Amino acid sequence: MNKKVKKIIDKKNKSKIICLTAYSKNIASILDKHCDLVLVGDSLGSVLYNYKSTKNVTLGTMIDHSKSVRLGVKKSLMVVDMPYNTYRNSKEALKNVKLVMKKTKCDAVKLEGGKKIIPIVKTLIKNKIPVMGHLGILPQTEKKFTFKGKKLAERNRILKDAQLLENAGIFSIVLECVEAKLSERITETIKVPTIGIGASVYCDGQVLVTDDLIGLNDSKFRFVKKYASTSKLISSAVKKYKSDVLKKKFPKAKHSFKN
Ligand code: KIV
Repeated sequence: MNKKVKKIIDKKNKSKIICLTAYSKNIASILDKHCDLVLVGDSLGSVLYNYKSTKNVTLGTMIDHSKSVRLGVKKSLMVVDMPYNTYRNSKEALKNVKLVMKKTKCDAVKLEGGKKIIPIVKTLIKNKIPVMGHLGILPQTEKKFTFKGKKLAERNRILKDAQLLENAGIFSIVLECVEAKLSERITETIKVPTIGIGASVYCDGQVLVTDDLIGLNDSKFRFVKKYASTSKLISSAVKKYKSDVLKKKFPKAKHSFKN
């Protein structure tokens, strides 16, 4: 088993797993110092491109951003989201995942879904590709963006899906907006780590979209905590630059060249 993947699994019941998203090198290299796992999420579709749905994100876009992220990630496990319609069957999934792994040198891929994708997950794992699962809200196919696990049938289905994914060999599962007690139940039931986003403190680890956490993206989601106001910081730097240029305080002689 891949050493970095094993390190993630071994953290279960010992220490929380720290995960964040990155879409480019500079942010990735900062995250790499602090995170166990860096995810190139297809959330980049809404965060960077203003797409209404992650359905619009292409394989090419994921590959390009992941190549940049790879330059910044040295120690963490780097996981790439497989975008919508790139893993509709085992053959398609294997072809596209192999391409992503070859072009981006990522360590693992993440796929959304439960029972329906089990044969696909098994094919990838048989081909020695580490796979991360994703249950709860599934942004690529979701119709109703409300938290999951309100009704008993839904709770049972999500728990069953988590067990099926575990049996298929995934190394970890993202739980997105899953009701707190259900997240706890899943986390206690399966042997691989759960990574929560809006899924309570009971998960083995947490993930957030970095742009939300640093205040670069104006997100209103209940599960987001903003730890910095980066937009304000950038705005203030740009204002100072503009003022310096207008007042001819920048560039000075030391920023210029003379013969
Ligand atoms: O696309 C993404 O960024 C994700 C995380 C929010 C889990 O899937």
